[in-house]
Amino acid sequence: MSDIDPDFDTAFAAEFDRLLTWRRDVRRFRPDPLPPGAIAELVARAKLAPSVGNSQPWRFVHVREPARRQEVRAEFERCNKAALAGYDGERAKAYAELKLAGFDIAPEQLAVFCDDGEAKGHGLGRATMPETLRHSVVCAVHTLWLAARVRGIGVGWVSIVEPDEVARILDVPLPWSLVAYLCVGYPERADDVPELERAGWQARDTDASYFIER
Ligand SMILES: Cc1cc2nc3c(=O)[nH]c(=O)nc-3n(C[C@H](O)[C@H](O)[C@H](O)COP(=O)(O)O)c2cc1C
Repeated sequence: MSDIDPDFDTAFAAEFDRLLTWRRDVRRFRPDPLPPGAIAELVARAKLAPSVGNSQPWRFVHVREPARRQEVRAEFERCNKAALAGYDGERAKAYAELKLAGFDIAPEQLAVFCDDGEAKGHGLGRATMPETLRHSVVCAVHTLWLAARVRGIGVGWVSIVEPDEVARILDVPLPWSLVAYLCVGYPERADDVPELERAGWQARDTDASYFIER
């Protein structure tokens, strides 16, 4: 612990803004392995995230076994096919052309769960908003995303899976619920535009009504 204020300067603030601009959801990876310990290092940074009541309900599973990876990938393929069936016409054609996960190449995979039975925090904030437990896990995922990006590592969030099915495949304790399944590795390219925007699926919105005053 230190009582010295880090006193981030304006140059750091500008660099941080650049980090936010250049963080991307990555689906196209290079096959090169990450350095040993890289995943543990990212998880350590993720655990610096805020959490309701300081409950720290995040649970990380480094998915390494080929058989489990294969099962998760098959689950994604199944859910992605079902999702495609929910679109018609041009949207269906556009959806079919999207690449929505990097299972084929990403060298690392990380599943992030919420321990719904977490007692730490003594219920603070959760009586009124129980969902804040999972919100806390999302904060950890985003922290990991940024910590990865500053190290040149890309992260892709895969949500096109049934959470209970992934919990079964990974054989995790019962009170854990899946929040994020992440493909991790070096990206094929850097970009300051989201892939879904480049693909014409959905652009970022600058609609001023998203930020109102009362
Ligand atoms: C909760 C969450 C779930 C997501 N699930 C998927 C997914 O299943 N497949 C995918 O390709 N991208 C997924 N994404 C990534 C988004 O598509 C991406 O964040 C968005 O298009 C903006 O791009 P950017 O992250 O590069 O700024 C997810 C993102 C979030 C926050």
